[in-house]
Amino acid sequence: MKFPAQVRIIDVGPRDGLQNEKQLISANVKIELVHRLQAAGLREIEVTSYVSPKWVPQMGDNAQVMAGIARKPGVSYSVLTPNLKGFEAAVADVAIKPHEIVVFGAASEAFSQKNINCSIAESIERFAPVVQAAKAQGIAVRGAMSCTLGCPYEGEIAPERVGYLAGLMRGIGVERVDVADTIGVGTPRKVQRAFEATLAHFSIDEVSGHFHDTYGQALSNTLAALQMGVWNFQSSVAGLGGCPYAKGATGNVSTEDVVYLLHGLGIDTGIDLEALVDAGQFISAALGRKPNSRVAIALINKRLS
Ligand code: HMG
Ligand code: MG
Repeated sequence: MKFPAQVRIIDVGPRDGLQNEKQLISANVKIELVHRLQAAGLREIEVTSYVSPKWVPQMGDNAQVMAGIARKPGVSYSVLTPNLKGFEAAVADVAIKPHEIVVFGAASEAFSQKNINCSIAESIERFAPVVQAAKAQGIAVRGAMSCTLGCPYEGEIAPERVGYLAGLMRGIGVERVDVADTIGVGTPRKVQRAFEATLAHFSIDEVSGHFHDTYGQALSNTLAALQMGVWNFQSSVAGLGGCPYAKGATGNVSTEDVVYLLHGLGIDTGIDLEALVDAGQFISAALGRKPNSRVAIALINKRLS
């Protein structure tokens, strides 16, 4: 099948990328990162999460970060809200109101318990009023589906379980879903099976790929999803990231690597790769390390030569 003509990327670096960092990063650095991402052409940015600061201290400055962003017209800012408490905090002031909220569930019972302290069924009960409240305020709703290609606690996850979760998400009114490989163990055919199961409940325009790169498969998995016509993806600038409740899992595939792949295929992203590399260098310097992106390193070395 033909590849899509354009791809929309949500950079999840400020949220998924930074949530697992031990050293507290200042709100100003996070805000500057968002500014650099939007200047590089990102039209969707996952900024932060309204979760318990005892569970994820790094996201404790959520409202401060949202309030500090000089919003660029045409850019959609999303935040994670696992329950009504989080949702209410996310919309407490018009200055911080997101365009989209994300409820996050798992295809694995064990991961659901570890990550959000409840079963899959309970999570859906908690999400339902959040989805309703968001829609009542004209806020879009995305559902993240974790562990669709494997679970750190349960191992293999059958595509039927992904389909089951997707059906539950659809049932409560979630508008689009992320097929997430939380621990980066998936391979292309598995990716396609997880999407096939999801596509029983959502259209091709309503599904996105969210691949962590622990086993180095994320670009292959991206290509496998593209071959099915998937045209929404999530990635982290500089390959930042990991989930605190998925031990051993590394960051998301880097946005730089995904953009290089897409541009090489002639697919439009609206993203300026050089400016993106600069954004990645900025946050990597703040963290005291090199970008975790082969493309970024190659382009930085080329600049220096
Ligand atoms: P809980 O303990 O079951 O909730 O946590 P609770 O309602 O019993 O409340 C316990 C305490 O948390 C109370 O405070 C609440 O006020 C507080 P205390 O009385 O002890 O001082 N609380 C909150 N505080 C702030 N914001 C809230 C909130 N809710 C309760 N929204 C909860 C349930 C979900 C809150 C908890 O388990 C939690 O915060 N988990 C963190 C989950 C998380 O952020 N995980 C990482 C993001 S998911 C991810 O990375 C995967 C993804 O990238 C896709 C992929 O790759 O798979 C999306
Ligand atoms: Mg993730």
